[in-house]
Amino acid sequence: FFYQSALKQLELQMNIIKEEFKIMYNYDLIDHIDTRIKEPKSIVKKMEKKKYKKTYYNLIEKINDIAGMRIVCTLKDDIFFIKDLVKQIPDIHILNEKDYVTNPKPSGYSSYHMIVEVPVKLSQKTIYVKCEIQIRTLAMDFWASFEHKVKYKTEQEVNKKTSKELVNCAKMISKFDDKMISLKNIQ
Ligand code: GTP
Ligand code: MG
Repeated sequence: FFYQSALKQLELQMNIIKEEFKIMYNYDLIDHIDTRIKEPKSIVKKMEKKKYKKTYYNLIEKINDIAGMRIVCTLKDDIFFIKDLVKQIPDIHILNEKDYVTNPKPSGYSSYHMIVEVPVKLSQKTIYVKCEIQIRTLAMDFWASFEHKVKYKTEQEVNKKTSKELVNCAKMISKFDDKMISLKNIQ
């Protein structure tokens, strides 16, 4: 319930910003927003993988992606613009940031990650609930969902050749994203 409420709160705020840019500036800053709550079995799996004792304390303190939001945009530049907008939202605490756009992971994965705390106003008090925000381009999203299907978190090992090809694809995607920015700048 807390995580669900925090996500609703954050989604409402980000949808206002999405519409604001469309209506006031005639610009589609955000293509779409996805949200999800991590399934209990995935939470348990993650706690086992990370060798955490399965306590509520560890669940709240150590698992940062129970509430997850993915913000997908068109251009690479928009990612940095959006993350700055998130930072400016009053009352949202930024706990951690990972810039896999400037420094992609060895897998080739690229996105901007933020762990934030969102205020949820209950009747008697306000609680701060952690959410993971991933900001990426449509091209990065296409790569990540494809790679996720073939490799990430699957039980079976993917062979070296496939991994290498996936890294190559990520590099192509990155060049494509850069090309899009240069095309936009000509306009
Ligand atoms: P997890 O334990 O997987 O949550 O990783 P982490 O706690 O080290 O955090 P990180 O920021 O590296 O990754 C968080 C999330 O980013 C993951 O749950 C995935 O949704 C996504 N992600 C990270 N690395 C990859 C990758 O190589 N491929 C894909 N498809 N997604 C990734
Ligand atoms: Mg995760």
